[in-house]
Amino acid sequence: MTSTQSEIEVAYDVSNEFFRLWLDDRMHYTSASYLSGTEALEQAQQQKCAILYNFAEMNSDKLVLDIGCGWGANIEYLVSRRVKRIHGITLSTAQHEEIEARNLPGVWTKVVDYKEFKPTEKYDALQSIEMIDHLCSPAQSHKGQAVDLYRAYFAKCHSWVKPGACFGFQAILRNRVPRNRKDLEDLRFTADVIFPGGLNPRLEELVAAVNPYWEILELRTQRTSYGKTTAEWLARLHKHEGHIRERFGDKVYEDYDRYLSTCVKAFDNYWSSDVQMKLQALPV
Ligand SMILES: C[S@@+](CC[C@H](N)C(=O)[O-])C[C@H]1O[C@@H](n2cnc3c(N)ncnc32)[C@H](O)[C@@H]1O
Repeated sequence: MTSTQSEIEVAYDVSNEFFRLWLDDRMHYTSASYLSGTEALEQAQQQKCAILYNFAEMNSDKLVLDIGCGWGANIEYLVSRRVKRIHGITLSTAQHEEIEARNLPGVWTKVVDYKEFKPTEKYDALQSIEMIDHLCSPAQSHKGQAVDLYRAYFAKCHSWVKPGACFGFQAILRNRVPRNRKDLEDLRFTADVIFPGGLNPRLEELVAAVNPYWEILELRTQRTSYGKTTAEWLARLHKHEGHIRERFGDKVYEDYDRYLSTCVKAFDNYWSSDVQMKLQALPV
């Protein structure tokens, strides 16, 4: 089982207004790419999209699919690059409503599990930003099923594209396990309460799982960028504390404060990281 629709709703359907308060204006809910280290979050998010645009070898005439497209932030970037036809899929109805409300030209999106998705034409390029962490539960990982689940995903993606298509892929990673009980409890809280049903993959699992469908042409990790991104989200959450407590309740504020504080610590302490890969479809 991947994260179910109701588990996705726990993670993403708190309220679009709530997420807009502490994410950036386009609502990227994934690591930005800080290049100089001093740029604003908004610019670092655009830089992330540019890296993945280049990894996907995009141009304005290519038909592209964004798998797990969130509230449409990367789709909006593609529109800004004058890409004429952009498809996106998400499991969250609230995210889908937000994308529809943005009324973006050339954009088609749908609420569908990627496993059920049946495109009517082959894509020139794919992009997916931190969706794969919903595809394997902790229980499945304990049973040794992670690589097979990720491989099934990469196989499906491969079946959707034209020969030689490129895929701009980004995933949050789990690296080390903290040593003390309080840190372990905070990580478990994040997994159980904020992102139920999900688990961050290990880099070596992804490297194994792309075979035999995709060749890795480039790979970059950006642990410190995710640390900066989550620190900025946390600062914005704190800035709106009064409003969030009043409008969404103390529990929502305190849960997200604990979750984002844990994320900042996880990237600082090497427990978690983030990877971007340029993949190219192999002949099979
Ligand atoms: C962390 S969010 C990332 C959203 C977006 N890519 C971004 O950068 O802000 C993960 C996304 O994956 C989607 N997702 C998770 N499991 C999915 C599945 N099985 N099929 C389709 N979308 C899925 C969620 O609905 C959500 O939009």
